[in-house]
Amino acid sequence: MTITEILNKVGSSTLRQTQGSGSLTHEEIKVLLAAEGDDKKKLFDKALQTKLAHLDNYVHLRGLIEYSNICTKYCLYCGVRCKNLKVERYQLSDEEVIECAKLAHELGYGSVALQSGERSDKAFVDKITYLVKEIKKIDNGSLGITLSLGEQTEETYRRWFEAGAHRYLLRIEASNEDLYYKIHPHDEKHDFQQRLACIDNLLKVGYQTGTGVMVGLPFQTLDDLADDLLFFKQKDVAMVGMGPFIPHPDTPLWQYRDQIPSAEERMELTLKMIAILRLMMPEINMVAATANQTIDPQGREKAILAGANVIMPNLTPNEFRENYLIYPDKACVKDKPDECHSCLDVRLAAIGHKVLYNAWGDSVAFTKRQKKS
Ligand code: 5AD
Ligand code: FES
Repeated sequence: MTITEILNKVGSSTLRQTQGSGSLTHEEIKVLLAAEGDDKKKLFDKALQTKLAHLDNYVHLRGLIEYSNICTKYCLYCGVRCKNLKVERYQLSDEEVIECAKLAHELGYGSVALQSGERSDKAFVDKITYLVKEIKKIDNGSLGITLSLGEQTEETYRRWFEAGAHRYLLRIEASNEDLYYKIHPHDEKHDFQQRLACIDNLLKVGYQTGTGVMVGLPFQTLDDLADDLLFFKQKDVAMVGMGPFIPHPDTPLWQYRDQIPSAEERMELTLKMIAILRLMMPEINMVAATANQTIDPQGREKAILAGANVIMPNLTPNEFRENYLIYPDKACVKDKPDECHSCLDVRLAAIGHKVLYNAWGDSVAFTKRQKKS
């Protein structure tokens, strides 16, 4: 099958024609992932057309609050793994979190995302419940709340949902179990089946659930990436975040840094993943991950043009940001929140997009599914 034939099966420039679209086979996805030159351009053009037809040229913002880098796990890629003793650990005070959320509201972001290293002790679970309720009090619940706090029990997910959080991000990181155990230790704290169960529980509790993977991992193949996209489709998630893997010198996967695709190739592959998924799932929310911008100064814009529609500007107080380096040279670590803000408007206008301020920016896919049920 040629690229044109494959692309004719999915996506479209008009809404009417796209209904029911989205089915691609493993082999077809692989052909798209390998596209080069004119074929690659056709893929990106079709993905952008599809996004504009379904979601217009709006970009939604989530003010990112990196609550704490204290983590009980030791994923083999992550700079804040508990075994990295070089990291100075911090946890924001309640006031600092609320201030960040108020700033998000003042800047018109509409939503915040609270992210942290993974902990599941009672003090942590209670604290998050409290913080979610406090953030909800700002201007009578006008801020949407996304959580990204790792694996928890179904009961904890339910508590946080009832407190007012309505979206949750938990990347599967790699949907192939063998690959999963090449990038995580294989022990009771890092269990692939457990992670799958968590994603199912999040869906069951009623969150707009987001997942995702890193692209360009050691040992990762195009077959793995094609299966990752089919996994997102099969789970029918509302949101996806994908970014290039960036080796961190203080982690075990650093030793494979010469065996992975170049930074440019990882970026290209990430953009193709975003574009193909936009064709497969035209109405989901897809984030232009900061990791894209770290690898390429234009990375976020490129991700938006490839089909992403969400950006997460960092609102963490600057003094803490340098301690939340899950990968090195993270973008925007030195920017001030309001600088970030004006910079975004200008950057997005330059590529024909605009921020939708003062809105939760829910996933259209999720909202439609809820209406049906
Ligand atoms: N490179 C790129 N992304 C990373 N993440 C963690 N470590 C790295 C890294 N070295 C991603 C993971 C995690 C998200 C918060 O950041 O996918 O889910
Ligand atoms: Fe913290 Fe992976 S190292 S969750």
